[in-house]
Amino acid sequence: MIEKNKERFGRIGFILAAAGSAVGLGNIWKFPYITGENGGGVFVLVYLLTVVLIGMSIFLAEVLIGKKANSDTVSAFEGLATKGGHIWKAAGFTIFIGMLILSFYSVVIGWIFHYIVVALTALPTNMKEAEEAFMTMLQVNWGTQLFYFSLAMFLIAFIISQGVKRGIEKVNLYMMPAMMTILVVMLVYATTMSGFGQSLEFLFSPNFEKFNTSSIIVAVGHAFFTLSIGMAVILTYASSIGEDTNIVKASLSVVALDTIIALVAGIVIFTITFSSGTEPGKGAGLVFITLPALFYEMGTVGSIMAIFFFISLAFAGLTSAISILEPMVMYLENRWDMTKSKATYGSAFVVYLVGILALLANTKDFGAILTIGSKNLFDWFDFLTAAILMPLGGIVIAVFVGYFMDKDMVRDEVEPLMGSTFYNLWMISLRYIVPIAITLVLLNETGIWKI
Ligand code: PHE
Repeated sequence: MIEKNKERFGRIGFILAAAGSAVGLGNIWKFPYITGENGGGVFVLVYLLTVVLIGMSIFLAEVLIGKKANSDTVSAFEGLATKGGHIWKAAGFTIFIGMLILSFYSVVIGWIFHYIVVALTALPTNMKEAEEAFMTMLQVNWGTQLFYFSLAMFLIAFIISQGVKRGIEKVNLYMMPAMMTILVVMLVYATTMSGFGQSLEFLFSPNFEKFNTSSIIVAVGHAFFTLSIGMAVILTYASSIGEDTNIVKASLSVVALDTIIALVAGIVIFTITFSSGTEPGKGAGLVFITLPALFYEMGTVGSIMAIFFFISLAFAGLTSAISILEPMVMYLENRWDMTKSKATYGSAFVVYLVGILALLANTKDFGAILTIGSKNLFDWFDFLTAAILMPLGGIVIAVFVGYFMDKDMVRDEVEPLMGSTFYNLWMISLRYIVPIAITLVLLNETGIWKI
């Protein structure tokens, strides 16, 4: 008998938790920098298309599995499969993706902690200084980085082990609007800057120069990463969903919010980039270089905003980080009979060790030995998870709901909420579009088949 999950979210609890998971560093740190590296417009278009055609379907599919199973990931696949339940248990591999993501994700949360201190003490006075400061932190001062990373990892584990997740999500209820307000203020400010038009053009008009087929996989991968799909996080949260939550509306709201925040962040960041005459392809430091420089330029108001911004970004990151570890913790609790605190600290410790490697991979001292081929470990973890493993997880989820769950059960749950036309489209997406499109993208990237 599968262990049932006893916790229940309240009416909007699931939306809060799922939004907390989706909106994070992916929107504000990662989206702008990978867009910069991949030439802008076409990349954004592929990302948006993936969100609409593939992301939304998978998101809803995951919510459905979670809601129906009411249990951890492995038990969910095993228990809901109409045939081959023992084979479907293997879909539990998705739980491990989170461990790898969290290892570099919490390194970035560490950077944000460091930048809260920077905002409180002294912001860099211009772009050049900001760039030097970031690079020094990243490549030279790894002791500082390690300190903040350790703090981040400990906080994440502590929050989960204390079961105060709901509390954190409530705080996020204030933090998310705070961050959005700051983003909107920056957006308004950005409209007065010289680079605004260029930023819009960069983001929304296709430029094929820097775009190549591997950009497609990064864009598709990012759609997965930013929506937290393909790795059982949404599924795990949905296992505590309240009976009265409309799963279609909830899914749409989270996806829409996530996308809007990423686009606004992108517009702001590229406006600053172009206004200061620098390059959009700065890599992982983009946000940490442009934003502090802008905050400084905005004077006292900017300095205050900087503090609030990095604090709310830390919250956005933490609520995502908590969600990333959750599938593993729930699995260990349910199937290995571990206590919450053992499951949490145990898995967090493994992540911590792997994270140290990711962290050191960016440094001058250890970079060379932690580089394999074209990427260092930090970039490998990021690439492997977002571009390969999460899309693979997405196929598994789509195929499961499309072919292996009880058809009447799926239809009864979803069709009344969206009508038969959209229901049929959703099924087409799960059964054909997701598996075919993602397989083609993955084959193409691995060189097995080239466009
Ligand atoms: N969606 C989060 C973000 O954009 C990251 C994340 C990935 C969270 C995978 C959960 C699962 O920051």
